Amino acid sequence: MANDAGISLIATSTKIEPPEEYRAKSYLQSYEAYLAKYRRSIDDPAGFWNEVADELAWQSRLSTVIEGHMPDFKFFPGSTINVCENCVDRHAKHPLTRNKVALFFEGENGDRKSVTYQQFYDEVQKFANVLKSFGLQKGDVVSVYMQNLIETYVVLMACLRLGVVYNTVFAGFSPGALRERIVSSNAKMVICANASLRRGKVLNLKATVDEALEGVESVKQVIVYNRLPGVETPMTPGRDLDYDALMAAAAADCPPAVLDANDAGLLIFTSGTSGRPKGIVHAGGGFLLGTYAYTKYQLDLRPEDVYWNTADIGWLTSHIFVLVGGLALGVTTLLYEGALDYPQPGRLYEVVQRYRVNKLFSAPTAYRMMMKHGEEVASRYDLSSLELLVSVGEPFNPEAWHWIRRVVGGGKAVINNTWGQTETGGTPLASLPGATPMKPGSCGVPFLGHALDVTDLDGKPVPDGTPGYLVIRNVFPSLARDVFGDHDRYLSAYFSQVPGAYFTGDSAVRDADGQYWVLGRVDDVINVSGHRISTMEMESSLIQHEAVVEAAVVGQPDEIKGAVPIAFVTLEKGFTPSAELEAALKAQVVRDIGTFARPEQVYFVEAMPKTRSGKIIRRMLREIIKEGTVQGDITGLEDIEVVEQLVENIGHRVES
Ligand code: PRX
Repeated sequence: MANDAGISLIATSTKIEPPEEYRAKSYLQSYEAYLAKYRRSIDDPAGFWNEVADELAWQSRLSTVIEGHMPDFKFFPGSTINVCENCVDRHAKHPLTRNKVALFFEGENGDRKSVTYQQFYDEVQKFANVLKSFGLQKGDVVSVYMQNLIETYVVLMACLRLGVVYNTVFAGFSPGALRERIVSSNAKMVICANASLRRGKVLNLKATVDEALEGVESVKQVIVYNRLPGVETPMTPGRDLDYDALMAAAAADCPPAVLDANDAGLLIFTSGTSGRPKGIVHAGGGFLLGTYAYTKYQLDLRPEDVYWNTADIGWLTSHIFVLVGGLALGVTTLLYEGALDYPQPGRLYEVVQRYRVNKLFSAPTAYRMMMKHGEEVASRYDLSSLELLVSVGEPFNPEAWHWIRRVVGGGKAVINNTWGQTETGGTPLASLPGATPMKPGSCGVPFLGHALDVTDLDGKPVPDGTPGYLVIRNVFPSLARDVFGDHDRYLSAYFSQVPGAYFTGDSAVRDADGQYWVLGRVDDVINVSGHRISTMEMESSLIQHEAVVEAAVVGQPDEIKGAVPIAFVTLEKGFTPSAELEAALKAQVVRDIGTFARPEQVYFVEAMPKTRSGKIIRRMLREIIKEGTVQGDITGLEDIEVVEQLVENIGHRVES
């Protein structure tokens, strides 16, 4: 599961203590404090979650905290709570936070806006009334195809206010991928921006929506926010409506719906082991409870912070740490649209400097990109406000870790590499930044109330220092409650591998200090710049092409992106390899999934390495592109010549 070099790096990694100034401002200030609280939270999870729940506003609260067991469980069954009320109303009604900025917006083109909690409250209520006026109610699904904008937050909060289940779709997905998500979630409405900016290019989101909706009956309205008024935006009469016009006519008074803590709150699709993406369903109240706790203790979020999380709203990280977790804690948050190094490589630093951001949350890909742009770029800016730098989504290699801490964090900032998944609705592994020592590359320690373990396939713990499967043994409120419309898939994807535990699909090592190191996926999912892509989804796209007989996609390590997809294809008779065909195949994947899934390279091969039962052995393809040869076990091969040929044709290109 991991190579020896990786394991020895883990064994020799040294601990770095958080600086005293940081520790003093942290919720948990020593390792002993963490350990004591962690043990209590595992011995008495109900007590721990009750304590978290005390800090939230409930509509009604019964005494039961946890009911049932994995995979059939509830938190606070019968108790009622509204996410929006906790994230918006509480702060808008409080004299100290009413006029505080909730959200700053910075567009890629330099546009700037902000809203206070009071203004945000008004906008959210208006949009909730807009949704109501179209008859939307608790349990209905709407698709949201927007980039990071204040209006996106208004839309999502309005949904949470009514119990309308939103499904955010990353605004880089192709019409085909958007359509699939709209259809399989049975969405009644689509809400989109007319366009967004990425590296100076205008992405016409409304045109994508129009294409995605061709022939789709379930969607009755499309609400369009004119982010870029100059972009021509054809509107279909009777279906398409202008966001601003609807808002101008709406009343700013809409009471929050009464919702059970276990009612569905949000839906987000993610790639799994099989071809079709899964619609992960989170309970609204459970998600609030969990994300509030993660955000509080892992980011030490305080009312006085200026906090910037660069994640796009299309990925769950934003919902965990900004939309719900961040706003529940009443902080000031920055939303940024577009590329972080555009129009010049120091854009991210410029934004940090302008707003005096003290807590920055991004992804290893972005951190590696900053490293690539070099130290001189960073030195042009005042980054002294930064106290905490957080990361999620992919392995954070020690080289980038050290560079970021020294150059961006002034040698003093705390680095917190967190591990989480769309399914966990949060980050069960992370540092408690003022309490636990940092180890460059590690994902820290189990979060309060979460019993993590590294096991073999029978669920038996493996010794520390040994790779195994990362599992979670107990229930927690933000764990996904279902796969939309497919409960059997929920059970089989997550609860059928290791008896009695949630199976993460990742491999990991726990070291002698109790810190966890996540090594990577054990299934056919690759992680490109933090985007989860199912290799099977890519393969099914490729084989749609008339020239392709068989396709196999594997991840190849990449210095900046973590991994890039590489495709192997065999061709139908009559077709020959060519640059045009390679371009057409890449375009096909972009069309079906999105630009971020574009194969870095397409290899045309005579045959695939297969087992005797006909399964493609992707491990060998991975080895060939990585090492130029195959050294692992080849006894299962049906035809050894296939591999010899591949090594001859592809292996030498790798070495050169
Ligand atoms: O393989 C793990 C990797 O990303 C996967 C989850 O991806 P996604 O659902 O898109 O993430 C949403 C984040 C809330 C995991 O199964 N991953 C995530 N964090 C790390 C990581 N791999 C290594 N180190 C991490 N810190």
